[in-house]
Amino acid sequence: MNKPRDYGDLARVDRTHVSLYTDPEVFHDEMERIFYRSWVYVAHDSEIPNPGDYKTTFIGLVPVIVSRDLAGKVHVLVNRCTHRGSTVCPTEKGNANSFVCPYHGWEFAPDGRLVTVGLPKGYNEGEIDIPKLGLREAAKIDSYRGIIFASLLEVPDITLEQKLSGIRPVIDLYMDLSPVGEVVVGQSGVYKHPYHGNWKIQTEGSVEGYHAIFTHQTALDVMARKMGAFLRGFQNSGLKGRDVGYGNNVLEVYKLTDEQVHQRWPKHYIDMLKEAHGEQRAMDALRNRFNLVIFPNFAILEYQFRVIRPIAPDFTEVRIYHTTLKGAPPDINLKRVREHEFFYGPASFGGPDDYAAFDRIQEGFKAQMVPWVHLNRGYLSEQTDAQGQRIGDLTQETQQRAPYYEYRRLMARAEG
Ligand code: FES
Ligand code: FE
Repeated sequence: MNKPRDYGDLARVDRTHVSLYTDPEVFHDEMERIFYRSWVYVAHDSEIPNPGDYKTTFIGLVPVIVSRDLAGKVHVLVNRCTHRGSTVCPTEKGNANSFVCPYHGWEFAPDGRLVTVGLPKGYNEGEIDIPKLGLREAAKIDSYRGIIFASLLEVPDITLEQKLSGIRPVIDLYMDLSPVGEVVVGQSGVYKHPYHGNWKIQTEGSVEGYHAIFTHQTALDVMARKMGAFLRGFQNSGLKGRDVGYGNNVLEVYKLTDEQVHQRWPKHYIDMLKEAHGEQRAMDALRNRFNLVIFPNFAILEYQFRVIRPIAPDFTEVRIYHTTLKGAPPDINLKRVREHEFFYGPASFGGPDDYAAFDRIQEGFKAQMVPWVHLNRGYLSEQTDAQGQRIGDLTQETQQRAPYYEYRRLMARAEG
């Protein structure tokens, strides 16, 4: 038997070993120790608003159905027939009274119970135990502001409240861009972007403050012309990257002055938010733009929920869901769609360049004689605030180092 890997040595505080991005055994350990035994994002409430609504997704490699039962309770069910293994739900989204397996007609209720089997008379007494053959359900589900997380095999060693403790204020600001404090996710569908690279490249890349002026030079030039000069001055912008605990992190993308808020957003929208949340809160929400990562598989960027689906050590699919602000004026939601398309759409100026870079990173990782990925930019000047959060400048790598504190904790924990 191989010696267990020392993940503390492979994921150091200022660098990661290339094998973490390429080795199938590491990938296997990550699925077992991170994706199947800790909090993983699965859906937003608004995707399954009504009884019988469902969406299918993945926890790591495992196909799951996030389903709202007929009494309104959310379940995360393993999409695997308990007879001989077929998935029972082939579609990505819908409403159903039951899920019927295509192979022998076993039928499961939206809460996972096995209701009936095909040709039941062929089973003799004692051959089938219907109450025990429901779909396997995630060990734990919880949510915050409609964002649903699940832990598949075990109740995680921290509550969701703990997991999100450092990042809740940032999620709250995001939601308060809506006058009713809610977003609707994926109303316009989903944009899936596969890339030939490891999933952690996207985890790191969702909060990348260093690359933008190189990778997105064209997009930034156009944006500066369209949106004004506040996008310039990256190195001394005063913007920060923040490690908010449990692998979660935040990158401040810009902070507007009050004057810039009024240039950027029409008065009727600003007034609506002030009316809804109070002046201070409304302006805080409008001033701050940030990207955030909730480790391991979820990010929020200004107009989108981004879900990272690992498929293989060198293959990942990213699912991008545009978010609509519930109760906001139509012109505001339209402006958000247009800006989202501009930077993140399939034929846009921004997102596709990131995926081209991710492919090239994985290609470079084939040079295994160069073993380390450096994440040490700003490490020596990193500050810690009163809450114990690590802070660095926008273009430094505090936020990219953040996931690896949790990575080490989870990867080591399961070895015992
Ligand atoms: Fe599902 Fe047989 S595999 S009913
Ligand atoms: Fe980018």
